[in-house]
Amino acid sequence: HSSPLTIAIDGYSACGKSTLARALARRLGYSYIDTGAMYRAVTLHLQRDEVNLEDDAAVTEALRQITIAFRPEDNHVLLNGEDVEHQIRGLSVSKMVSQVAALSKVRRAMVEQQRRMGADGGVILDGRDIGTVVFPDADLKLFVTADLETRIDRRLSELLADGQEVQREEVAANLEERDYIDSHRADSPLRMADDAVLLDNTHLGLEELVERGEELVQQLRTARR
Ligand code: CDP
Ligand code: CDP
Repeated sequence: HSSPLTIAIDGYSACGKSTLARALARRLGYSYIDTGAMYRAVTLHLQRDEVNLEDDAAVTEALRQITIAFRPEDNHVLLNGEDVEHQIRGLSVSKMVSQVAALSKVRRAMVEQQRRMGADGGVILDGRDIGTVVFPDADLKLFVTADLETRIDRRLSELLADGQEVQREEVAANLEERDYIDSHRADSPLRMADDAVLLDNTHLGLEELVERGEELVQQLRTARR
């Protein structure tokens, strides 16, 4: 019986991280922590309360009021008990989330919770700083990429299929803006960990991407036997 692993998946926006993470977690019987959903839930709360991001005391107070959890049955994110899974995926949250995630105060609170949730292993986390900051000693680190145009197409299809009225230009601008802010912020910028495996899935289907992930897990287990 192999010991439970901690798997870190990082990468740019809409590259396939969460799809890969969710599918791998299901196959391995692991839990999945969508850290992007946590930053999105914080953002939704700050938007609802119209908190000024420059008002440090107001941000602190807002963070004190927030409880974030994942519903075990379907992994929906719960903000103070409310299922906000659908609301956090819209462009309104997407347009502000990188500004919120650049605040050290917010990152500290989220990273602390993520470490607690993943402490026992048997877990897959996806985000921007998992392999570099949250679990720098993770057993397996994947860095997922795909060409920008491919990522734009994929996210656009997702939003349109959900019935949201969005233009391709808007989605494109949002992905580019978030990638820029996420990789240039002072605290925990997005970068590939030195020991991560690069998975470019521009020309890979979902099934192939997941198979590639499974192969890497198998290789790791074999190497450790
Ligand atoms: O799904 P998508 O790739 O568009 O984004 P996400 O994974 O839901 O993350 C939303 C935003 O949260 C990112 O653009 C980052 O600004 C922030 N984030 C972060 O800073 N650190 C993480 N570990 C995860 C997300
Ligand atoms: O989590 P992240 O934002 O990195 O990406 P995602 O939400 O997993 O993937 C964005 C969209 O691309 C989803 O609708 C996926 O189903 C789709 N996708 C795809 O069609 N083919 C792939 N090889 C990877 C993702």
